[in-house]
Amino acid sequence: MELRQIGTSDVMATPIVFGAWAIGGWLWGGTDDDKAMEGINAAIDAGINAIDTAPVYGFGHSERVTGEAITGRRDEVFVFTKCGLRWESDDGQHHHDTQDQTGQDVSIYRNLSRDSILWECERSLERLGIDQIDLYQCHWPDETTPIKEAMGALVELLDQGLIRAIGVSNFTPEMIDECLAYGPVHCSQPKFSLLSRDHLDGVIAWCHERDIASIVYSSLEQGMLTGKVTPDREFGEGDQRLDKGGWFTVENIRRANAVLDEVVQPIADAHAATLAQVSLAWTIAAPGITCALAGARNAEQATENARAMHIDLSDEQYGQIREAFWRLEGP
Ligand SMILES: NC(=O)c1ccc[n+]([C@@H]2O[C@H](COP(=O)([O-])OP(=O)(O)OC[C@H]3O[C@@H](n4cnc5c(N)ncnc54)[C@H](OP(=O)(O)O)[C@@H]3O)[C@@H](O)[C@H]2O)c1
Repeated sequence: MELRQIGTSDVMATPIVFGAWAIGGWLWGGTDDDKAMEGINAAIDAGINAIDTAPVYGFGHSERVTGEAITGRRDEVFVFTKCGLRWESDDGQHHHDTQDQTGQDVSIYRNLSRDSILWECERSLERLGIDQIDLYQCHWPDETTPIKEAMGALVELLDQGLIRAIGVSNFTPEMIDECLAYGPVHCSQPKFSLLSRDHLDGVIAWCHERDIASIVYSSLEQGMLTGKVTPDREFGEGDQRLDKGGWFTVENIRRANAVLDEVVQPIADAHAATLAQVSLAWTIAAPGITCALAGARNAEQATENARAMHIDLSDEQYGQIREAFWRLEGP
């Protein structure tokens, strides 16, 4: 399996990257740390060579669990994390109010000021127990900080060797274009799944033309594309899918599962694969997509998701899946 270059950086990642949001617990109805660490180790054992986390995932928890899980295996894995969502200070642009994984009220602010980025980088290195972050990404744009200032701080960190590559997430092409005036942008991290396709012809195509990697998030549509979300599926307290509309209404779960059953299942059978594996295999075969982030809570999910890297869909199968999902109206 071919590694994929993250933009013009020297980071060469596997097309499936372990997504470490759920193992932070926050917005995912809690988490089990032992299972999470087994999940990360199983992902590495199955050939995945990168993990994507963020300080805000469980308010430091995901980074700490990731750091502990990779102890002794640092040379086998790239660590991607983020900056710019703060919960211990109310400087910057209000992002949203939430409750942490213990039920405490928390207000999150977008803050990409120089001081904040440098402060956050130190904390992330500490929690992760590493001395260099392989890819450091601005989590969300912050309208209270000029892009010039944020990029200046990231270039400083790059020059000091504290980070190895620069990324942005949830940025528009116009914002990324402005970033490029002040330094390199090696990757963009937008949302993409077969059920959420808006960015494919937008920021993903735009980045592809400029040698900027696209590492896409929620590529299993938060579990929906595994076929394991049924209308009677019960989610734990605090799980964002519990009261979310979007694809998680009873009617939309049925519509999505109908396409999985009718179109994806026969293709999965032909590859002795699962629906999750075929959905991920399609995503990493799509033009402009460098890597797909696949969240997993345990070893079973991580191992299953990693196998998607070894499934080669024929052009006909790729086309059948594309056509079926493109016909499906959004929620
Ligand atoms: N930059 C951003 O703003 C942003 C936003 C969102 C996500 N992300 C990144 O992208 C990563 C992936 O996105 P995501 O976590 O939102 O969603 P996802 O990868 O689409 O879905 C992950 C969830 O699906 C279920 N799942 C995964 N593999 C499975 C399998 N093989 N069988 C059955 N269920 C399975 C698990 O939840 P259950 O077991 O509970 O069903 C898991 O937590 C995140 O971890 C994070 O690194 C970034």
